[in-house]
Amino acid sequence: MHTITEQALIGQLNWRYATKKFDPARKIPEATFQALMQAARLAPSSYGLQPYAVVIVTDGALRQALRPHSWNQSQVTDASHFMVFAVRTELDQAWVDHTMRVMASARGVERASLAPWEGMVSGFVKGFTSEAAKHEWSAKQLYMAGGVLLTAAALLGVDACPLEGIDPAKYDQVLGLEARRLHALFAVALGYRAADDKHARAAKARLPEGDMFVRL
Ligand SMILES: Cc1cc2nc3c(=O)[nH]c(=O)nc-3n(C[C@H](O)[C@H](O)[C@H](O)COP(=O)(O)O)c2cc1C
Repeated sequence: MHTITEQALIGQLNWRYATKKFDPARKIPEATFQALMQAARLAPSSYGLQPYAVVIVTDGALRQALRPHSWNQSQVTDASHFMVFAVRTELDQAWVDHTMRVMASARGVERASLAPWEGMVSGFVKGFTSEAAKHEWSAKQLYMAGGVLLTAAALLGVDACPLEGIDPAKYDQVLGLEARRLHALFAVALGYRAADDKHARAAKARLPEGDMFVRL
């Protein structure tokens, strides 16, 4: 059974676009924002390790401070909500322990019963040959969460703009992320489009199906 029609799904995905100009006066209702947070939280990650965090920047002064480090993009200050997606800089046995405790508690099982799974996950984490490789893997997981959030926003009729046009090192500095063992990679501005954002009317430009899908 479908919970949404194919037509409604594609309709919303066509409706969404990378919003360039937000209406600064319109705020996302709290219940809607809570649902968007849950959507990002429910994103899948390899081994369920969730090697990331999402920083919700509510302080207006901080958002002002981030804008010059974001190609001066207006979404940083004008959108209703602003989220910074950051990878964890330490992915080690302590983090594996943490996720195992979460899993044992969520499923109401003894931690010991997870030992075979934990062995596999620990082995995987120990298997990285460099910090760079670990970082790259963590970044891939983080982008998944961003994708889920963007899709969820579209389905709830909330506008969004993913922003990679940021200076991650400056974001870390302004938000004090290093002390939290986090490193910013991209941001997502959320809210409602300004009536005069001409980008909203631009036709979707996507590769033809034949360029993207390979049926074997
Ligand atoms: C990871 C990522 C980073 C992006 N960074 C920016 C950005 O910094 N500023 C911006 O205006 N759009 C940004 N975009 C939006 C893309 O340019 C846009 O998604 C693409 O051109 C397709 O257009 P559409 O999303 O409006 O359909 C980004 C998109 C992604 C997925």
